[in-house]
Amino acid sequence: MERNRYRIIFLGPPGAGKGTQAERLAEDLKVKKISTGDILREAVAKGTELGQRAKSYMERGELVPDEIILGIIEEAINDEEGFILDGFPRNINQAKALDEMLSSKGLNITHVIFLDVPDEEIIKRIAYRRVCLKCGAVYNLIFNPPKEDEICNNCGSKLVQREDDREEVVRKRLEVYRGSTEALIRIYEERGVLRRINGLGDREEVFRRIREAL
Ligand code: AP5
Repeated sequence: MERNRYRIIFLGPPGAGKGTQAERLAEDLKVKKISTGDILREAVAKGTELGQRAKSYMERGELVPDEIILGIIEEAINDEEGFILDGFPRNINQAKALDEMLSSKGLNITHVIFLDVPDEEIIKRIAYRRVCLKCGAVYNLIFNPPKEDEICNNCGSKLVQREDDREEVVRKRLEVYRGSTEALIRIYEERGVLRRINGLGDREEVFRRIREAL
């Protein structure tokens, strides 16, 4: 079987729209989307061992320890398929481990999409984000509202606010992003794979920019 040629990372601050755009792009390119945040939230909801280990870090807005995350990624990446990584890597150690994982299979990262969104916009997007715990759909009460008030269009469940979308936790997540994740921008830029995308504007417009940059 021929290897899919896309191995993409989505990078950007919390609430920048990584999940929204990664989902759309994965459909378009017919590759698998691997979201560490989604995998962890599902594990927490089900109360699995992984969920129990990750829960307190997530509630505080801190990074879950690398060894837990790397185990998830090892399991999820299939070298034949091509993939989009949403929310990983998030620090230099994770980026190095990913390089080693891929180079041992003769692979590399083809593109890093950096979604550039200013803090004022992030705060707005996160404050109005609502999610469906049953099917995982993500809405925004202002920018992408459900048809019926706070009810999921897909499965009819009641929408909720993510536990870590409370203001004080968002502040911590932004701090962690600046302290640990932002350094990756330069690393991938020097490697020539970074695509800096203006994340402002409606979702279609942002998607068009990403498509053009690939
Ligand atoms: P994770 O789920 O990865 O959170 P995040 O990186 O903070 O990103 P978000 O999910 O908040 O935002 P997003 O950029 O995906 O935006 P979205 O598309 O939803 O991680 C959560 C936690 O898990 C971490 O804090 C950590 O504890 C742990 N974790 C995860 N990965 C880890 C790792 N690798 N290592 C260690 N720990 C890890 O959009 C946001 C809102 O804006 C939505 O309401 C959406 O509808 C709306 N929106 C999207 N696009 C637009 C647009 N163009 N215009 C207007 N609104 C828009």
